[in-house]
Amino acid sequence: MSAPAATETLVRLTGVTKVYRMGDVEVQALRGVSLAIAQGGLTAIMGASGSGKSTLMNIVGCLDRPSAGRYELAGRDISGLSRAALAELRNRTLGFVFQSFNLLARTSAIENVELPLLYAGVPGRERRRRAVAALGRVGLADRLRHHPAQLSGGQQQRVALARALVMEPRLILADEPTGNLDSTTSAEVMALLQQLGDGGITVVLVTHESDIAAYAERVIVMRDGCVQSDHAQQPLRAPEPAAAAPAMLAPTTAVERPALAAPTGAAR
Ligand SMILES: Nc1ncnc2c1ncn2[C@@H]1O[C@H](COP(=O)(O)OP(=O)(O)O)[C@@H](O)[C@H]1O
Ligand SMILES: [Mg+2]
Repeated sequence: MSAPAATETLVRLTGVTKVYRMGDVEVQALRGVSLAIAQGGLTAIMGASGSGKSTLMNIVGCLDRPSAGRYELAGRDISGLSRAALAELRNRTLGFVFQSFNLLARTSAIENVELPLLYAGVPGRERRRRAVAALGRVGLADRLRHHPAQLSGGQQQRVALARALVMEPRLILADEPTGNLDSTTSAEVMALLQQLGDGGITVVLVTHESDIAAYAERVIVMRDGCVQSDHAQQPLRAPEPAAAAPAMLAPTTAVERPALAAPTGAAR
């Protein structure tokens, strides 16, 4: 009936520009970016500071709108959507991971992961069940009650990943997710992101480290608000972390996605 999910385009930007106006000064943060990203897989965005990476991520993440051009997410033009509709789309479709983890300090791992479900109005018992499952997927089933300060950096980032995963997003956006981690822990986080990409979630990450970009199957380099280069590569396979075997990463529930329905028979 429909094309296979593997070839489905999830993100499509066409001639996207972004101009920030500060008084009389205009900054052209994006100068006409066109690109398409398929469902599934791991894409890295690189480029010097100020080249427009975060601006691009904010637009793809529906946190900001293009000044001109078109953005389609899962085949839907988002430019006409209200703020409320965008917020709902974000909550249902997107997961965010940040360099500094952004966990609530006085709150346990499980409560941190439950937060997006709370915002979405999911009842308590269901929240708990899904948060436990998401923490299991990142290999932290035995750390549910730990607070961030009681976890290593890599474990905190895995809690953040579980929080991003708990809404069953189609797209995970990660801005320098390994920026605060040592190389061993970075490789563990990259292994998880790679497995999510293999499992059909689209993962887009910003990094300035070429050894992190090596895990991606596609590298987009930004320069002065434009795409300077965009190439596919054979990704480096991250070592599998003992704590998160692939079986634990299998989706635990088939969550319905009514408004953004994937084609019938799609993997996700
Ligand atoms: N909110 C903002 N207001 C004004 N200028 C901004 C804003 N955000 C980013 N910029 C400018 O836009 C350009 C691109 O920034 P950014 O997307 O943050 O780059 P990167 O993430 O690659 O470092 C820079 O020149 C930056 O100073
Ligand atoms: Mg940035």
